[in-house]
Amino acid sequence: MCSIIGYTGSLNVAPVLVESLKRMEYRGYDSVGIATINDGRISTRKGVGRVATVDKSLNFITMAGQIGIGHTRWATHGGVSDKNAHPHYGCTDDIAVVHNGIVENYMELKEELVQLGHKFKSDTDSEVIAHLIERYFAEQKDVTQAIIKTCKKLTGTYAFVAAFEDGTICGSRYDEPLIIGPVENGFFISSDILGFLPYTDKAIFLDNKDIAVIEGPSLKLYDSDGNPLSRPITQVAWELAAIDKGKFTHHTLKEIYEQPHTIITAATQDREKINNFCQILLNSKTIYVTGSGTSYHSALIAKHIFARFAKIRAESIMSSEFQYALDPIDSSSVLVAISQSGETADVLQSVKTAKLMGAKILSIVNIPTSSLARISDSFLSIDCGPEIGVAATKSFTGQLSLLYTVLDTLCYGCVEYKAGKLELVDAIKEVLASETEIGQVADRIREARDIYIMGRSIHYPVALEGALKIKELAYIHAEGIAAGELKHGPLALIDKNSVVVIINPRDTTFDDNLASAHEIKARGAIIIGVSDEPNDVYDIFIRIPSVRVPFYPLLEVVPFQILAYHLALRRNADPDYPRNLAKSVTVK
Ligand code: F6R
Repeated sequence: MCSIIGYTGSLNVAPVLVESLKRMEYRGYDSVGIATINDGRISTRKGVGRVATVDKSLNFITMAGQIGIGHTRWATHGGVSDKNAHPHYGCTDDIAVVHNGIVENYMELKEELVQLGHKFKSDTDSEVIAHLIERYFAEQKDVTQAIIKTCKKLTGTYAFVAAFEDGTICGSRYDEPLIIGPVENGFFISSDILGFLPYTDKAIFLDNKDIAVIEGPSLKLYDSDGNPLSRPITQVAWELAAIDKGKFTHHTLKEIYEQPHTIITAATQDREKINNFCQILLNSKTIYVTGSGTSYHSALIAKHIFARFAKIRAESIMSSEFQYALDPIDSSSVLVAISQSGETADVLQSVKTAKLMGAKILSIVNIPTSSLARISDSFLSIDCGPEIGVAATKSFTGQLSLLYTVLDTLCYGCVEYKAGKLELVDAIKEVLASETEIGQVADRIREARDIYIMGRSIHYPVALEGALKIKELAYIHAEGIAAGELKHGPLALIDKNSVVVIINPRDTTFDDNLASAHEIKARGAIIIGVSDEPNDVYDIFIRIPSVRVPFYPLLEVVPFQILAYHLALRRNADPDYPRNLAKSVTVK
């Protein structure tokens, strides 16, 4: 959602913060702000827009000091405006606060503070945190007590960092990540390890309600009652090169091109860990698989392949719907939660609900240090490296690659994914080599009003995923449809202005799909076939190589990723930063 960064040390803080915020911008990017402390005074600059744009007009890097905090915002409470950008202050300018999350009781707190004479300047929920800290700091002049008392007043989710004019930086979290990066002569404090990765590969992950107080080179951690505590230092595995765009124009394109490599990494798992994961699955009576957005599409495929190839029944439930599901979850159940970030609020909420009902939690993440991994009984990581593009690409195929690896363990090698994944590497490379041709398809359909993507069986979740990519990257209405459902309603939408993409590899769905294609053709729509076999019914043909039947979803999503990327370029949308979206959705 939002990103938070704080730094104390010997470097000039402003350029450090600007670069950190650029690296984390994928989390939220409608406004940006920085506060630095110099000679016992805090100065702030903030404005609406992306980091680089606002930096151009506000010249952040001229701000003096070696201590400071910064923030990029993804608006939840209060519109996108300069006054709502962080940092926020209380009534005076001596404590600056940046926040990520939602303070659910902010109206009540605001009323209380207004009655005490506090004056509010923004429409955000976050500003109450600044006023609360100000209020409690005025009582005792004790930073730690001010934070403890503030946290006790807050309900909802938060990670916040406050900077005091004497140079003290402190923060706390509840259900939003906050991580400390120890460096020479100081510390980073950030919502994401990307905030400090160029400076250290060591991280201290704060737990819910932990309080961190940084004074120069000293870090003190406390629990919510002020008792000192310690947290381990974790070695972070990601390589810095992984967050560079390299020769690519966008992170999204780079990540699409990484897939021949990342599907192999995702399938390379510690045997003992995967056996343990599978044993928990096999010991359970009922299996639920959950996720949001793209990760939910992986959950749908998991359900399908577990049933078809391992004869194991699993129910897939969207994380945002999980709390309304009436399924009898108990201690004989297992919930498999799939999430790239491991921080998605809906997913974490589902997991907490299932845990309360006694279920075991298994998870598939890309960030092994994420909240999801840490609350799971067992987790597997796809280890695809950072996914910066807001639209999920390599994490989807990574999740599938890992799920097929799990499947192969469950069914004693019945799908032979060990060999299958090598075949997929070559096939994905072939699709990548056809980027120019797919770009030409984008040229032809760039003005489309509606794009329908159809598939049956295991290809239906890919149709949903393809449509999601087109919606979020190119801002075109796109819909995934189970091809057999066409005649039950969607056919009414089809006319000569519609573009219909049919996912039609040579398997048992092939002939039925061709029949549907003919029905659509009769209504005048443009038909695009994504298949390993051409047919006259297609107006446009996107060829994919033939692979073994179970593995098509891993391959056939790639042309959609490329198509969505090229549609975005042709429609002047930024593929890395789709409007209104954020990479990790840490609010409900
Ligand atoms: C789509 C996309 C989102 C995420 C969803 C879940 O391209 O990126 O739909 O898939 O927000 O995120 P994770 O997997 O981090 O839980």
